[in-house]
Amino acid sequence: MGKKRRIGILTSGGDCPGLNCVIRAVVCHATITYDWEVIGIPYATKGLLERKAIALNRHGLDVHGIDPLLSMGGTILGSINRGDTLAQAGEIIASYEALALDALIAIGGDGSLAILRHLAQQGHWNLVAIPKTIDNDVALTEQSVGFDTAVNTITDALDHLTYTAASHDRVMVVEVMGRQSGHLALQSGIAGGADVILIPEIPYSLTNIDQKIIELRDKWGRRFAIVVVAEGVKTEDGTSSVYTDSLGQVCLRGIGQYIAEQVSYLSGSKIDTKVTTLGHMQRGGIPSALDRLIATAFGKAAVDLVAQNQYDRMVAWQNSQVVSVPLEEVLLRSPLLVDSKNYLVETAQALGIYVGEFPEYIQGGGQGLPLNAGAL
Ligand code: F6P
Repeated sequence: MGKKRRIGILTSGGDCPGLNCVIRAVVCHATITYDWEVIGIPYATKGLLERKAIALNRHGLDVHGIDPLLSMGGTILGSINRGDTLAQAGEIIASYEALALDALIAIGGDGSLAILRHLAQQGHWNLVAIPKTIDNDVALTEQSVGFDTAVNTITDALDHLTYTAASHDRVMVVEVMGRQSGHLALQSGIAGGADVILIPEIPYSLTNIDQKIIELRDKWGRRFAIVVVAEGVKTEDGTSSVYTDSLGQVCLRGIGQYIAEQVSYLSGSKIDTKVTTLGHMQRGGIPSALDRLIATAFGKAAVDLVAQNQYDRMVAWQNSQVVSVPLEEVLLRSPLLVDSKNYLVETAQALGIYVGEFPEYIQGGGQGLPLNAGAL
């Protein structure tokens, strides 16, 4: 029998539903199957820097025999998506040795995983990655932990808004997350019956949005409309809508307001628009069954990779199965954007949903010019 291993686990970047399911699966499999020790590193690189560790065992995750982590949103380990990690790289790298780790399982999006891979290479850490992000833009995996729940949350919100929109003949503009990629807006928009879906990857025309809304009314008798717009979509002159948060960080917000104002203005104020920004609602909540399933399968597979000494790899969801892929390749191909061949874009178009126009479809100039082409 080999030496009893001590593995660390951390959650990095923006939180999302399902992170605790991953932690639970890692702890259960590592302790039950392999009899290893698992320690949680709180607040990712901050915890490493401060050499903080939380002992995690199967029993400690139970409350009166109940396993609450499956249904708990957020992350019991805490997370950060700010800070100048590289300035303190030396100290962070040394923590791996100081904490006597044999391997580290990191749950993160492409940004966090890129930083952690850099540190791992410098420090010769044994790193296994697990993808999580509601944006679903980590390459080489069809699903990242948290995405399915966020799609469900937005779909639910669209269902709520549809009835009040219909009652007042209004156009509801709903701003959702999605910094560079529109997977979240596209999937929830289709599932929630949106009439217009705007994503950062596809240029749009304000005039065409107006025409779509008018066509709905004049041709089909639909006197209301639902417009879903990803926060990363740009204005007509190619500017991102941003605000500065309490820590001085520039964050995306406001494109929904812009679209609503412009659509109403172009119609000569005949179109009544209201804006809903879902914000961090989308990141919280109880994980869906699919997220729990994927998170659990990922956690189990990550522990098996450690057992097989297969490092610098990421577990991934492909064809409803867990596989592992080289982390380097994942990072080279991320963020994963929606492309023009995406079957969901075609599906939306086939159903008459306005999703903007890829450049090759755009005819002529004037107001039909691609507006957010800078994002391509
Ligand atoms: O990357 C995930 C994400 O949810 C983005 O869609 C969003 O722009 C960002 O995180 C928000 O991060 P924060 O919580 O730091 O404002």
